[in-house]
Amino acid sequence: MLNSSAWQTYRRLLGYVRPHRQMFLLGVFGAVLFAASMVSFAKFAQAFGDGTFEQRDPGTIVGLPLALIGLFALRGLGDFIQTYCMGHVGRHVVKRLRTQIFERMMQLPIGYYDRNSSSLLLSRLTYNTEQVGQAATDSVVVTVRESLTIVGSIALLFYLNARLALIAMTMGPLVAWLVTIINRRFRRYSRRIQDSMGDITRVAKETLDAPRIVKVYNAQGYQNAQFEAVNEHNRRSYMRLVLTKGLSNPVVQLVMAFGSAVVLSIAIADVVHRRSTMGQLLAFLVALVNISQPLRSLVGVAGPLQQGIAAGQSIFDLLDEPAEPKGGALVAQRVRGEIEFDHVSFSYPVGKGVTLHDLSLRVGAGQVLAIVGRTGSGKSTVVNLLPRFYDISGGSLRVDGHDVREYELTNLREQVALVSQEVVLFNDTIRSNIAFGRDTSPEQIEEAARAAHVMEFAQALPAGLDTVVGDRGVLLSGGQRQRISIARALLKNAPILILDEATSALDTESERIIQAALEELMHNRTTLVIAHRLSTVEKADRIVVMEAGRIVESGTHAELLAHNGQYASLHRMQFAA
Ligand SMILES: Nc1ncnc2c1ncn2[C@@H]1O[C@H](COP(=O)(O)OP(=O)(O)OP(=O)(O)O)[C@@H](O)[C@H]1O
Ligand SMILES: [Mg+2]
Repeated sequence: MLNSSAWQTYRRLLGYVRPHRQMFLLGVFGAVLFAASMVSFAKFAQAFGDGTFEQRDPGTIVGLPLALIGLFALRGLGDFIQTYCMGHVGRHVVKRLRTQIFERMMQLPIGYYDRNSSSLLLSRLTYNTEQVGQAATDSVVVTVRESLTIVGSIALLFYLNARLALIAMTMGPLVAWLVTIINRRFRRYSRRIQDSMGDITRVAKETLDAPRIVKVYNAQGYQNAQFEAVNEHNRRSYMRLVLTKGLSNPVVQLVMAFGSAVVLSIAIADVVHRRSTMGQLLAFLVALVNISQPLRSLVGVAGPLQQGIAAGQSIFDLLDEPAEPKGGALVAQRVRGEIEFDHVSFSYPVGKGVTLHDLSLRVGAGQVLAIVGRTGSGKSTVVNLLPRFYDISGGSLRVDGHDVREYELTNLREQVALVSQEVVLFNDTIRSNIAFGRDTSPEQIEEAARAAHVMEFAQALPAGLDTVVGDRGVLLSGGQRQRISIARALLKNAPILILDEATSALDTESERIIQAALEELMHNRTTLVIAHRLSTVEKADRIVVMEAGRIVESGTHAELLAHNGQYASLHRMQFAA
């Protein structure tokens, strides 16, 4: 019924059930009750047939209806126990998987995010986990219950009439073979459906993230076409599943019908020739129905079960993705902030060619280094190597004389505050966005907010610093968002500060004011500043000019002007205007 990798997945999923084995076993007990009551219906039919038709026993007038109520009560009790207990187990499994996926998502290296769409991750987190939950609960319940009913009914068949039972059993291998084929198809289509759910989420998310762009470019038609494509792909994959689902039961039932017909004719012949009683025939018939009905449910549950296994497989693929390395054992209280790029070369994991070529650069502790250069020349790439978003491919990168890989990763990152090119805010208050999980006093937050000129606009807001900024900060202006991200970096108070176009969204006046605040801050820390506006970098201890992944000029503002190279010409252009 399962191939070896599916079986492994299933075993691994069962591992999630283990902590809840008591509830699980109780649920199985409920299924046993249910199955027992089902098998008892066959005995009930026998008592009915013999007592009423053969013996004409008046006791059956009250006894049998009472027994009927009893059987239904038993079945109801079993039904409740299994539903509740398995539901309990299933929801725990879903929650556990979600927790693990979420934790793993945060540990994945940046390179993973470059390669995979975030929507695929999201749909694993939401959709795939639900399918596993389904498989772990409903499907397990049905499988246990119906298998037990079948086994019990078969046992009863043998007890009633071994010869007939043997004939009925010849159908077994054929049915098992059919079910195997059906399962394989279910699993294949389920995987496709799950991936296409990821595509649907992706297209929808991209559109939802940029409603203004979609509107002003009148791109609704274009987006619609994209959505139609993934939506249609999803429908097609689903229809394959539906087709398999629709065909599977009738086929299995038809095979069963042939077998049952043969058995029935022999059974009727036995009664006709008075070799067995009416009760035995009825019991035999009920037992047969008790096999074919559960078999129908079993085949029906194969779909969700296989979907769950396929979903589990892709979840485990994600969980097995290697996390970021933890780094070395070195833990620094606070580094001095001496940074050295020593013949560093670097290529992005996805991307063609080398991005940084043989780059050497030394920044003394507490100094300010400015990096300028054309767009795409590799400025952001250089600073992204410092907190180890990516690892260098050649040469070495040292902080305080130690290779960055010697530091414990969290410790290394603790030393770096970053105001990145794209500002990221969370749908929370301004205050929480500045603190961002750090354990700080309200005064410290306010101080950072004041230094980054967040207070200026926050005071005008109805709830001040406690104003919620909206999804990704949409309720604020670009410059306001940038100030919040500067405040966040100020609050972190790390010895190394990276400003990647940190003031690009500010007007000249605010920029000058914040620049002053930043200069204050740069005093006793090493700062790497990237800026297109040269006025913000003039005072740097050193300025390097990058071009296509190489440093082409290096020196102070005055030296570079005197050198009359690329920097000087950039400078002339900006100030000519
Ligand atoms: N995550 C990535 N994966 C692959 N290639 C990338 C990635 N990020 C940047 N690149 C490539 O690396 C090169 C340098 O990019 P980088 O972002 O460092 O430029 P930059 O100098 O900061 O430019 P800008 O001034 O526009 O911010 C570019 O050619 C870019 O296409
Ligand atoms: Mg950049």
